Amino acid sequence: MDVETLAARFSARNAEPVLVGHSGATVVRLRRGAETLYYKEDPAVGADADRLVWLSGTGFPCPRVLDRGDGWMLTSELPGRDASQPWPAADRPHVLAAIAAGLRELHALPPDCPFRSPFPGSAQVVTHGDYAAPNVFVDPDTLRFAGVLDISRLGLGDRYVDIALMVKSLSGRLNPQYGGPPAARTFATAYGADPDDPRIPYYTALDDSGDF
Ligand SMILES: Nc1ncnc2c1ncn2[C@@H]1O[C@H](COP(=O)(O)OP(=O)(O)O)[C@@H](O)[C@H]1O
Ligand SMILES: [Mg+2]
Repeated sequence: MDVETLAARFSARNAEPVLVGHSGATVVRLRRGAETLYYKEDPAVGADADRLVWLSGTGFPCPRVLDRGDGWMLTSELPGRDASQPWPAADRPHVLAAIAAGLRELHALPPDCPFRSPFPGSAQVVTHGDYAAPNVFVDPDTLRFAGVLDISRLGLGDRYVDIALMVKSLSGRLNPQYGGPPAARTFATAYGADPDDPRIPYYTALDDSGDF
């Protein structure tokens, strides 16, 4: 990806690759006038864009799709910071609480969603499908939940899909700042879930296998 060409294409004065995601998608932050925009390129980005348009329509906080084409989209900046960024130690318990509160808000949306989760299980609630630390935003001033992104797998599904993937995100090597498995249990309990529910290892293994 030539970031200079991309900057010129969208009349941006500056373009910098974002290396936070782990999906293999190309994400580039563009500065245009006073705005910050995000360009995402991936063969599966159309599903992400379709769901962002739908989720924005519900009023739930997420990036707005400003432009899109074959295998790419341009979105507005979601305010806040993603939960995988380094947070001051004193803020981390509040960030964990915000991650749990945000998931409760998402699952409280009316279940009239046109998309189905790719994961098996009951179609209970609107699930994110990749509710991991880098995809969840928190306001650094208020420490409240600020929104979600990366929702190509959003759809009606079992609430434990999201609980499992956040437990996995908080337990693994990628987000040690929260304290590992005990923090994952704190998150599940704060949500109101059972941290020992067998669907947690079940959906984690399915996600790892990629076979669903
Ligand atoms: N519209 C946006 N507003 C703010 N940050 C964004 C936006 N789009 C992407 N990002 C940043 O880029 C990272 C990677 O984007 P994401 O859509 O999650 O791609 P991936 O599929 O590679 O994980 C996000 O975790 C976030 O930090
Ligand atoms: Mg992501």
